[in-house]
Order: sequence, then structure tokens, then C-alpha cells
Amino acid sequence: CGIVAYIGERQAFPILIKGLQRLEYRGYDSAGVALFNPAEGETEIKVYKRQGKVKELLDFSTGKSTQANIGIGHTRWATHGAPNHINAHPHISGNKQLAIIHNGIIENYDSLRMALEKEGHEFESETDTEVLIHLIEEIQKKEAVSIEEAVRMSLSRVIGAYAIVIIDKTAPDRIIAARKGSPMVLGLGESGEFFIASDASPIVEYTKNVVYLNDEEILIARDNGEFVIKNIGDEIQTPFIQYLEMEIDTIEKGGFDHYMLKEIYQQPKTIADAMRGRINAKQGIITLGGINEFENRFLNADRIIIAACGTSWIAGLIGEHLFEDLARIPTEVEYASEFRYRNPIIKNNDIVLAISQSGETADTIAALELARDRDALLYGICNVVGSSIARMTDAGSYIHAGPEIGVASTKAFTGQLVLLTLMALQLARKKGTISSSYFFQLLNELENIPAKVESLLQNDAKIKYVAQEIKDANNALYLGRGYNFPVALEGALKLKEISYIHAEGYPAAEMKHGPIALIDENMPVIVVASNDSTREKVISNIQEVKARKGKVIAIIKEGDQAIEKLVDYAIEIPDTEEPLSPLLSVIPLQLLAYHIAILRDCNVDQPRNLAKSVTVE
Ligand code: G6P
Repeated sequence: CGIVAYIGERQAFPILIKGLQRLEYRGYDSAGVALFNPAEGETEIKVYKRQGKVKELLDFSTGKSTQANIGIGHTRWATHGAPNHINAHPHISGNKQLAIIHNGIIENYDSLRMALEKEGHEFESETDTEVLIHLIEEIQKKEAVSIEEAVRMSLSRVIGAYAIVIIDKTAPDRIIAARKGSPMVLGLGESGEFFIASDASPIVEYTKNVVYLNDEEILIARDNGEFVIKNIGDEIQTPFIQYLEMEIDTIEKGGFDHYMLKEIYQQPKTIADAMRGRINAKQGIITLGGINEFENRFLNADRIIIAACGTSWIAGLIGEHLFEDLARIPTEVEYASEFRYRNPIIKNNDIVLAISQSGETADTIAALELARDRDALLYGICNVVGSSIARMTDAGSYIHAGPEIGVASTKAFTGQLVLLTLMALQLARKKGTISSSYFFQLLNELENIPAKVESLLQNDAKIKYVAQEIKDANNALYLGRGYNFPVALEGALKLKEISYIHAEGYPAAEMKHGPIALIDENMPVIVVASNDSTREKVISNIQEVKARKGKVIAIIKEGDQAIEKLVDYAIEIPDTEEPLSPLLSVIPLQLLAYHIAILRDCNVDQPRNLAKSVTVE
């Protein structure tokens, strides 16, 4: 699910390969390029594609002709059809005149395919994308129109989501692109060259001037340096040229072995960045612009409904604690994919809060659309500036963590927690639901968190040692209570995502109702035991595990010798206020998962089958 395309005076192939490598972080299982070089007298579009990584595509292309000033490249994450080189993109039309790359899903591809088969079209792959390019070919033939017109006409017959880029060998002076529900950005290079990609990372080293396409827009970029954007109704749109704030070093590893490790270590800074300019500790003022703008709606809200997926959903569970505990607003947390299909009760006094690192997750977008139809206020917590969710919500707050490249989310999670804390505190202050002294205590402590994260990162050697001890386990159990139950879920999710060890997160007391049956001497049990309010209870839970010979790794408060003596391995974290404790306790769990995955020789930045941002439902 990565797109990159180029038209201009340079050689396209190296730009495509480098761009695809920049997009590797999004997760994919095959890669391909299409190139056209009429200048050298070539008459066919060259298509090279491979199952596996971009490296395999590069090896496969070595020795073959890669000359061309126009080209499109794609990394595919399989939806329709197995991940193999036949289903990989680009796909070409039956007459071999057109090549396409596509992100998203064409939902009515089956009926389109049947209609096209009646017209004599034959298909090589099982993909919806190949159906789309045949449809465009058919319209081009029947209506005798230009490629851009054929694309426009075909898109009005398509149901679903797409970001597509197309080249036509009979019109080699242009690239056609279009989007609906799947992001696409145009980079305006020097001397009239154009870069097109599914996010800015393949573009940023060439140009900072970009245009984000809107839904149902079609782009025609020509080799004479001109470009036009139309909507699907054929009206010319005025492009909004933006200056990219992204720096190239933010998308490089910066001396770390992996992006995930870099991002874990960035957290002292990213946590501070998430609060920057939003706190006046002396006067006790928190300013989130989005909340100020809709203050009355927030203060009178009957309910906050949080909709999200994956790690962002887990951040939402901690948000539920914060909103209820501090601001006394009833809160529900929903998997966006479930919420959207179960006819939920949403009222106009509700606030629907979407949490999404990418701001592009299809199910989260759909949940917001549903809530918008029922007149709820839509609020977003996103990382990617200008993303779909950031644009479609009534208001929101960015976490400002910078690009997160590792598929397993780390710094975005802690950034989301900071924003949820700020929201809850701002509302609690306004509503008077916590005492002024407690408010100041939490606020001051929040400002101490970056330094505390910095100090706990010094424990890495200990965590590496523990990783060595449990790396061969087949299963792991993570336990926590209260604010730290979601941290247990997140610890388990991190481990399974990147090390492929089966892991479950559970509320520590609930363990007795099931998972305790699994405990034996081979089962590591990781217990987040750093909270005061549940300390005694968690000690009992640890004893229950020890009595069954389980191996206990505990995250403890610095100096808690009683628990340290009880468990096999203890990892210390600095003391903090309980509502803020997840910001610290999650970090050793991120590192533990990282080290175990490395010891098991797993690809931590691009775990198998996972995508960074799931833009299909
Ligand atoms: C994917 C990623 C997860 C992420 C989830 C939600 O599954 O692999 O790391 O938590 O999507 O993504 P979002 O961008 O909406 O936070």
C-alpha cells in the first residue's frame, strides 16, 4: 500500500526504488514498477514485479532495461488475491497500452469484471485493480476519449476507495492520478518535474512544495511542467500548494539500528513536544485550541465516545480512565470497525473522539462519518498533519511526534496519552471536578515526565537481559490493573506484533477466570506493578502466579523491594502520579518487545502481514 510515481527529466527508476524503500515502513508483501521509454524507440511499457521486498525487485531488475523518464511504482499489501508477483502491481490493460497502480478497494469489482468478461476481456490476476484498468481501457476504446477523460468516466462507475496512478503509452507526456478515501500527494519538483506518492516520505528529499489531492480529484501532470486538477464532475480545481514542514532526517534512522528503537528513544522529546505551548503551569492554564473553540459543547457533553483501532484504541482505554476519573465525563471506547456496523446510539450532545496516528485508518474514518450524520461533535487526535481525519473533524489536536516509521506504534502512543491527559485536565479544571491542588500536582508532574522517561531508558541493559531469558517462550501473559490494565494490553500487542510470540493482556484479577489455567514454568507473566492504589492486590496476583511456578517479570516503582524479592525479574521505573503512570510503564514493555524480536531475528520495523496504516476496512 505504497505509491510513488515520477515524470520529468531524471531517470525514474532510481527515484521509484528509493521512494518504495521510503514507503517500506507501511508494510507490504510485493513490489513492482512500470516504466516507459519511447525516446529510445521502445514501444512497450516495461513492468517488473516481485513477491517480497523492494530488494528482491531490485535484484530482479538488475541487468534489465530500466531507462525511462516516466514511471510508477507500488508496494502491495494483499487484499484481493494472494501476495504473489501476478497479483502485484502495476497491472496492465488487455491491449498493453495502460499501466496502473492502486491503493484501496474497488468494492463492485466483481460485477464490473463480469460485465467486462462479456465484452471479451481476460484477466491474469485476481485483483480488483486489474478490473479497473480494463474498465478504463474499455471506456477509452468505446468513447474514443483521452486517457484522463476515460479515467474520469470510469471512476464514476466505481464504488470503493482508491488512490490510483496511470500511464498510457500513447500519451507518454503525462501521468494521471486520482484519489478517493486513500491519500495522495503531488510534489512539484525543479524544472517542471513531478513526484506523486501516497505520503510525503518519498518526495521530501526532492521538493517541499506539495499539493494534497482531495477526494474525487483527478490530477494530470505533464512533462512540460504543467499540471491540472479536476474533480470527478470535470470542473477544474484551484490547487493549494503547501510547504512541507518535514525534514529528511526525521524519516531516517539517525544512528539507530531500527526505526522502532529510534522512536522509543525519541520519547523524552516527543512527549515534551506534545505538551509544548499548551501548558502554563504557573497560572494553571491548559490551552488546547480545539477544546477552547467548542468549550460549551465539551462542558455540556453527556458522553465522550472514543473510536479507534489498534494501539490508538488502547490509548483510548486510558483516555476513558482519564476522562471519567478527572473530568467526570462518562466515556466509552469502541473499536471503530465494530462501532460503525452496530447501529450505535449517538446523540448530538455526544463527542466522538477519533484517535489515529496516521489519520487515515479506514474504519476510524467510517466511524466519524457515522457520528457526523448523527450531529455529534467530532474531535481528532492525530499525528500526521493534514491527514484525512484531521481534516474531517470539527476540531482536534496534533500530537506532533514527527513521522512514525516503525509499524509497531510507540512514540505516537505516548503522544496520544499526553493529549488525552491534557484534554481531561483542561476539562476537569473548567468543570471543577478535581481540587486545585491536585490539578497543579498533576500538571507539574506532567512536566517532569520527559526527564523521567530519559532516566528509565537507562535501564535498557536490564531489559535486554530479561529479553534473553524469555525469548524462547511460546506464550506470554501481561497483567495490569486500573490505569495500567491497558498498558498490559499494549505490552502484549507489541510483543505479538513484532516477535510473533502469542501474548495476551489481562486485568490482573480477571486472570483467575481463565488464563491462570495456562500458567506453568514455561509461561512468562509480565506484571505492571507500579501503582500505589492497587499495589496490595497486584502482590496477591503475583503470588497466585508464583504458586503455579510462573516466571514473573514485574515493572515496579523504584525501590519497591518487597515486590522485587517476590518476582524473578524486576524492572524499575520512577515514581509518578497514577493517572500519568502509563507514560512511564509502557516504555520498558516497548523495549522488551523490541529486544525479544531482535533476539528472535524478526524484522522489527516491518513485521510480517502488518501495515502501518490500514486504509482498507
Ligand atoms: C495498524 C498499525 C497499528 C495502529 C493501527 C491504527 O494496525 O499497525 O500500529 O495502531 O493501525 O492506526 P492509526 O494510524 O489509526 O493510529
